[in-house]
Amino acid sequence: MENYINYLTKYNPSIEKIFSRNLKETLNALYEICKTKEEKVYLVGGIVRDIFLGKNSSDIDMVIEGNSQEFAKHILPKFPVSKHRYTERFLTYNIFMKSGTNIDIASFRSEVYEYPGALPTVKYSSIENDYTRRDFTINSMYVSFDKRAELYDPLNALEDIKNKTIRIIHDKSFEDDPTRIFRAIKFAGRYDFSFDDNTERCLIEAMEKNFLSSISNLRLKNEFYMLVSEKKLSNILSLFRKYKIFDYLNIPNPSDEDIKEISEIVKKSSFRKIKEKHKISRGNFIIMYLIRNLSYNEKIEVLKTFEIGKKNLETILFEEGEAENIILDLRKSFKPSEIYLSLKHISPFKILSLLYILKKNRKKIKSYIYEISDKSGIISGSDLIDIGLEQNSFFKNYLEKCFCIQLDMENPDKKKILSKLKKELKLN
Ligand code: CTP
Repeated sequence: MENYINYLTKYNPSIEKIFSRNLKETLNALYEICKTKEEKVYLVGGIVRDIFLGKNSSDIDMVIEGNSQEFAKHILPKFPVSKHRYTERFLTYNIFMKSGTNIDIASFRSEVYEYPGALPTVKYSSIENDYTRRDFTINSMYVSFDKRAELYDPLNALEDIKNKTIRIIHDKSFEDDPTRIFRAIKFAGRYDFSFDDNTERCLIEAMEKNFLSSISNLRLKNEFYMLVSEKKLSNILSLFRKYKIFDYLNIPNPSDEDIKEISEIVKKSSFRKIKEKHKISRGNFIIMYLIRNLSYNEKIEVLKTFEIGKKNLETILFEEGEAENIILDLRKSFKPSEIYLSLKHISPFKILSLLYILKKNRKKIKSYIYEISDKSGIISGSDLIDIGLEQNSFFKNYLEKCFCIQLDMENPDKKKILSKLKKELKLN
């Protein structure tokens, strides 16, 4: 099998090392398919940008001369695919692979936006027109998916990459698609790039003219959450503040200290442990941190923009007085079993809030996260039946009692726990 990656080394000699094995295998396999096709195929967007920046990419964007649906038919049987869909409106085919790499196939197209924030009307076009619909110069480079791996860089984006510049392609870019306001910040933050003067002027104007109001709350939420998942969170938050994204969202502007603190919190092992175990949304946590000093009603107002359902809201937002009560409870808790009983009904999200936002009882909460919450009971229902307890409405309480005894006991074992339980219940 030929190695397409070799053909890319002329643009970046280290690409073999930078691209993940999975990405390389996928590109090589796609290349084999492209070889058999007549029509022109190009790599475009993020993956080309990342070749020149020397970064790994997770997605493969391709553009082709013909119909993406037809093209996808040749790709689908060759890969383990978890989902795929054709969107006729945009002439695009998205393939989500089991490996986690996504392939987006688009036909060369041009776009017309009827009004700000509208979804574009698209028409088949040629490569010479395709780039005009894209967001920034650095995302408008093409590399042919053949052995020549020819670069088509109509806007001299290589120069922008060299100068670390984000540049829009035309002045109406943010108006056409206001999500590009977020994308501009994403790339600037991620790569430590700056905006050229005109792009910055257009971005500021787009914010002043409230173009963001033309996108739905759901899209706004998705963009916001995507950006705060970026590795360089402090860059992103500083840019949000600078370009008045927080003002738009009614979120108080964080201080430099706040930005530093939240960026450190999300890296902490206790944060990551709970986040991963309970699938906590990093975006939700960052919002709650940023609005921590608002009143309950002001918080609710901000959270409305983020379309958090009532049930989810209950797990992340303390009701009035709720946090104070938990703190009081914790203050009176010393034994592991007491800490357990104070926190067992509290959602993991709120536990993180106590630890990092309210900063209360941190030692006890950490012992809950690292020691207590990982334990499981040694005593089972059948053990209780064996000592003569009936399966009545107290049964669950007995099991809980055993668990508390276990938590407070040094080197607990079945025999010791059951004998303590019997003593406490005055059983013989
Ligand atoms: N694009 C655009 N305007 C948008 C979204 C996307 O012009 N609002 C174009 C850009 O050319 C972009 C390409 O579509 O490079 C692919 O978009 P996407 O996969 O969303 O972004 P990437 O550039 O690959 O960024 P990331 O690395 O974050 O995936």
